Amino acid sequence: MTKTFKPLTSLPEWRTLEAHYRKVDGMQLRKLFAEDPKRGERLAVPAVGMYFDYSKHKITDETVRLLVKLAEAAGLRASAEAMFRGEKINTTEKRAVLHTALRAAKGATIMVDGENVVPAVHAVLDKMALLANKVRDGKWIGHTGKPIKNIVNIGIGGSDLGPVMAYEALRHYSHRGLTFRFVSNVDGSDFAEAVQDLNPKETLFIVASKTFTTQETMTNANTAKEWALRILKDPEAIAKHFVAVSTNADAVAKFGIDTANMFGFWDWVGGRYSMCSAIGLSTMIAIGPENFQEMLKGFRAMDEHFRTAPFEKNLPVLMGLLGLWYNNFFGAQTIAVLPYCQFLKRFPAYLQQLTMESNGKRVTIDGTAINYQTGPIYWGEPGTNGQHSFYQLIHQGTKLIPCDFIAFSKPLDRLGRHHDLLMANVFAQAEALAFGKAEQELRKEGVSDELVPHKTFKGNRPSTTILMDELTPAALGKLVALYEHSVFTQGAIWRVNPFDQWGVELGKVLAGKIAPELEAKTEPELAHDSSTNALIRRYRKNRA
Ligand code: F6P
Repeated sequence: MTKTFKPLTSLPEWRTLEAHYRKVDGMQLRKLFAEDPKRGERLAVPAVGMYFDYSKHKITDETVRLLVKLAEAAGLRASAEAMFRGEKINTTEKRAVLHTALRAAKGATIMVDGENVVPAVHAVLDKMALLANKVRDGKWIGHTGKPIKNIVNIGIGGSDLGPVMAYEALRHYSHRGLTFRFVSNVDGSDFAEAVQDLNPKETLFIVASKTFTTQETMTNANTAKEWALRILKDPEAIAKHFVAVSTNADAVAKFGIDTANMFGFWDWVGGRYSMCSAIGLSTMIAIGPENFQEMLKGFRAMDEHFRTAPFEKNLPVLMGLLGLWYNNFFGAQTIAVLPYCQFLKRFPAYLQQLTMESNGKRVTIDGTAINYQTGPIYWGEPGTNGQHSFYQLIHQGTKLIPCDFIAFSKPLDRLGRHHDLLMANVFAQAEALAFGKAEQELRKEGVSDELVPHKTFKGNRPSTTILMDELTPAALGKLVALYEHSVFTQGAIWRVNPFDQWGVELGKVLAGKIAPELEAKTEPELAHDSSTNALIRRYRKNRA
């Protein structure tokens, strides 16, 4: 039975926070730092190999205390336990939510429907390792006797963003003799460009789809089959050139992939939480099973921290609460994620699905319409590139945009002054955002009256700095799990179900209806709105 809740905004803890917000709304970071010389060290938590500095936020100790109280009142601890224990907390799909089981240690016990799922998780990891090692050692031989050199992952959403983000993030550790490509978009150019310089005789496709019904993925997979068979001719070749990652064995077999070459996972793994499952096969081939295990260990360390650390020292909880503070009290609409690490260039895109598909919800778990803001918009780009693009708006625009800066003390490529300069920039940006540059300082420097308003930085713009040692597989695991659990923290307080995604369905249904209208030989009778009808007619007329 679904739980019914008292409206969140009627909780005394919420009301107290509202009153507190009214009191501290005008607080200035300059003043907060001046009054407490130790603030920068005090409001920082070193944990799980991360230094999480949240001192440059518009908060006081009282704010943190009240936010923690809200999390407690919302039953965050019990909700998290229910997830870790494998209860069916994804109520609209009647599923457990156990991405944490994907990184559980071998001896652990996690029960779903009376069965310990951990041995099956490790059996799949072992099977993945066999394939990964074979490919990495040049022992996976294609149909014509040539070893596989190219791996093309075909998937979309969680079946693409996790793999491509992890590949890019961990490229430093990847097998350089292998080429990796990722195809997701149903736009044919995505496939065409990905394979244009590849030889089908040396190419292995991983068709990654939880459902194995997703239109984009199945269209790309069929195109891949045609592309491969144009050269390989023999349908028997499919066994050597296609493997599948899915929960749907029937559909995999129907597509023509031997289910012996299928890597399974389970309905309790959400698409956007699946990068530790067999969906990570391309990652494992790229970085090798040992590094993949290191990544899982990183995830596990953050899982344990989230499960056990007191809320005021708990990184995902703090991150989730700070996001909520701006989202619900300051009316901030977005959060910028700014990794000062080129390897993390796809991390913001990965986070967009993780955060926005999870908490972009308008009703609570019990179906009640929500009268407060839920998931913020996540976006970002690696620094320093973003600095020369959109940072202007963050510094001097009219919007409040909390930022997550992510940086590493040690570079993976030691080149002259590069890393010191990179780090100088990340520290400088957080400092500039927080403290700005006051009018008086400008005048002292002799800036003309005319330019003073333009050159003034008001500052007081909040950010978190997450400093880690080095971008290792384990560090990536920790970072991803940090965001996963911060999304969970927010979802639990907003009382939404972060694990379903009904909002993507309508568009899929309508596309299914429109596609035959576009392809019809004779003018179809259209019954859409006048705008959609006109667009369809225009497209039909103008396409080649
Ligand atoms: O966009 C909806 C969605 O279901 C995502 O949640 C999921 O990651 C993606 O589609 C791909 O789904 P599948 O892995 O089943 O192809």
